[in-house]
Amino acid sequence: MRIVIMNGSGRANGNSRAFADAFRRGAESKGHEVETLNIGSMKINGCIGCEGCHNLGKGCVQNDDMQKVYPALEDADMIVFASAVHYWGFTGQLESAITRFYAMSGMKPKARKYALILSSGSEGVYDGIISQYKDMVKYFGALDAGIKTVAGECDQKTKDNLDSMYEFGASI
Ligand SMILES: Cc1cc2nc3c(=O)[nH]c(=O)nc-3n(C[C@H](O)[C@H](O)[C@H](O)COP(=O)(O)O)c2cc1C
Repeated sequence: MRIVIMNGSGRANGNSRAFADAFRRGAESKGHEVETLNIGSMKINGCIGCEGCHNLGKGCVQNDDMQKVYPALEDADMIVFASAVHYWGFTGQLESAITRFYAMSGMKPKARKYALILSSGSEGVYDGIISQYKDMVKYFGALDAGIKTVAGECDQKTKDNLDSMYEFGASI
């Protein structure tokens, strides 16, 4: 399978990045091809609802880093959303990228499989994101391959957490 990880955190040495990398190693150990897109470090506007994509039929009219993301998404069999929790939601950058799925054919990626990895400071802050994620996967007519959450200390890159993300990737 070709797997694309959309990492919403802008922290190069952050938790989401480390979890995404561990997941990637696990998935690669099973022969999958994995690409990580560090969405949190990109300049991606939210959809402005102009309908240019649907009226002109040439994709999204906004010329920003999302234009580099679309080709990777087009080829993906699976998409993994990895994100820090920011105010009970995805990071703003990842949320903006997701709104831009609107310009894709059928307003959804072709990927048939999805997974979710979340990192937060506190416990019990996931309901909003998980609800959004599950509704999206349902709308995409796709399969939810699993959800992993980690809460707590600033640095969550413990062996246990990284092993758990590796196993998650290897189980896909
Ligand atoms: C702008 C901002 C908003 C945050 N909002 C929340 C929140 O609503 N709930 C929570 O538990 N943690 C919140 N956090 C803490 C992060 O989710 C947490 O530190 C996470 O591990 C960071 O992941 P990263 O290293 O991948 O960026 C917030 C952090 C920032 C910078």
